[in-house]
Amino acid sequence: MKIGDIDLGERPVLLAPMEDVTDASFRVLCREQGADMVYTEFVPSDGLIRDAAKAIAKMRTSEEEAPIGIQIYGHIPESMVEAARMADKAAEIAGGHGSDLVDINFGCPVSKIAGRGAGSGMMREPDKMVAITKAVVEAVPDKPVTVKTRLGWDDNSKIIVELAERLQDVGIKALTVHGRTRCQLYKGEADWTLIGKIKENPRMHIPIIGNGDINSPQKAKEAFGRYGVDGIMVGRATFGRPWIFKEIKHFLRTGELLPEPSVAERVALAKRHLGLSLALKGQPRGIFEMRRHLSCYFKGLPDFKETRMKMVTTTDVDELYGILDYICTRYV
Ligand SMILES: Cc1cc2nc3c(=O)[nH]c(=O)nc-3n(C[C@H](O)[C@H](O)[C@H](O)COP(=O)(O)O)c2cc1C
Repeated sequence: MKIGDIDLGERPVLLAPMEDVTDASFRVLCREQGADMVYTEFVPSDGLIRDAAKAIAKMRTSEEEAPIGIQIYGHIPESMVEAARMADKAAEIAGGHGSDLVDINFGCPVSKIAGRGAGSGMMREPDKMVAITKAVVEAVPDKPVTVKTRLGWDDNSKIIVELAERLQDVGIKALTVHGRTRCQLYKGEADWTLIGKIKENPRMHIPIIGNGDINSPQKAKEAFGRYGVDGIMVGRATFGRPWIFKEIKHFLRTGELLPEPSVAERVALAKRHLGLSLALKGQPRGIFEMRRHLSCYFKGLPDFKETRMKMVTTTDVDELYGILDYICTRYV
């Protein structure tokens, strides 16, 4: 699968952009574990233009993460154009590697974003969505622009098959579709049938990346085989389980399931993640922001409550590494 000139190979598996989850430390880790491409957390276009430090910092990426897309969102066309230009020049503005592509978020269902017409709110104004996309594509002619969206606003307006064509016609280089409507939020099961329909449309030639509920190598294989997508994107199933990329890719290649990682292997990954987080954010932020990940690494361990509490409350790095070592010896 190719997005513009970015060659992601056969049946690529991408890490979904997730706010407060896919920071640079997690992105590096997932790349090391086999993710073919990663994205930043979504960056507000109005924040970028106001030069808000937090928004700018979100555009800072590193070579180890590449290929990487910077994702932007917003509902004001001029702001989106300006934000796309900034994402294009992210290496100069925020330092680091910059962006290999600019992705537009038209999928976020959160009320404060969709309610204002940004994210999946744009699914109620498809003409405006297409116009913003066109303006963004024209603003960064040397960089691939992609879109990530949903099936539609609600059950009565699943417009994605027609919309996909319109977005392709204004020049996007790939489309990611999460198989839910805005109104479904994250409830129910993702419906991949319309994603399959986009692929059946003979007019479509850009890569289609399917997203929603892929949590096993078998589901990944089904997504490629049954719905014909060019790539898949994995989100929540990566929490505390970044090796899922390795598992999926191995299964796609060989049809065999890898054994579950041992506790020692999980500890080693958690340590690697913690090290990256500390290097990126320092103390104590590097520890605070790891907390949501840490307990996920050890889900299912028996009698873990007390250790878990210690692990997610300590502010001392040495103590935290000590707890991880203890987990390793306690659960051999
Ligand atoms: C905590 C969280 C944060 C998310 N943040 C973003 C985001 O910043 N940009 C985006 O396009 N999607 C975001 N999403 C949606 C995911 O990218 C993905 O589309 C969704 O989780 C469905 O895929 P999954 O079933 O594999 O998790 C987020 C999802 C979660 C759970």
